[in-house]
Amino acid sequence: MADFQTRDPLSPAFWDERFSRQFTPWDQGGVPRRMAQFVAGSPAPLRCLIPGCGSAYELALMLDHGWNATAIDFSPGAVAAAQAVLGERAGQVELADFFAWQPPAPLDLVYERAFLCAMPRAMWPQVAERWAQLLAPGAMLAGYFFFDDNPKGPPFGIAREQLLSLLTPHFDCLADESVDDSIPVFTGKEHWMVWRRRAS
Ligand SMILES: C[S@@+](CC[C@H](N)C(=O)[O-])C[C@H]1O[C@@H](n2cnc3c(N)ncnc32)[C@H](O)[C@@H]1O
Repeated sequence: MADFQTRDPLSPAFWDERFSRQFTPWDQGGVPRRMAQFVAGSPAPLRCLIPGCGSAYELALMLDHGWNATAIDFSPGAVAAAQAVLGERAGQVELADFFAWQPPAPLDLVYERAFLCAMPRAMWPQVAERWAQLLAPGAMLAGYFFFDDNPKGPPFGIAREQLLSLLTPHFDCLADESVDDSIPVFTGKEHWMVWRRRAS
């Protein structure tokens, strides 16, 4: 797809151009299996944020289970795609930058899928710091992490050691599982992980 006008994934225009041209190879078209199990198995409804939500299929599932969930994206094209998926619940999707958005109440969970890997690697420390700021001790970061060493992206894959060094200052790892329902761009390279915010 050499004829895209935008090259900077830090700009909303980059993602807008791809949504408007329906070039969304990261889009699973539904809720990944392990996340669906996580939502169904949650002992109580959670207050959740989905940063960089794209089409936000997971938001619909969370709302179906009574969760108080919000999905944000800084691309108007992504927000439009999510609002089309959400229908009359479109108000739970907000146009917002992850680094500026403020939760109206403390979060129980941040859901990660294809957001960290959408960011150039130089941004990762800021993403990890923001996760840690948004989550109080005991709250969780759960979702899918893409392990790869291809220098080109997005998606920008991470090395396991680098993910550990980003997260272990603030989080304990509770789950780390291989994934068997990945779409082609992530096949064999993503793990389902759950991290719990530590007090320190
Ligand atoms: C690769 S897509 C993944 C979308 C969705 N999470 C999914 O799994 O289909 C990355 C998304 O993150 C959004 N994004 C990137 N940087 C962002 C930021 N700083 N704040 C909010 N959204 C952002 C993009 O607009 C894009 O929709």
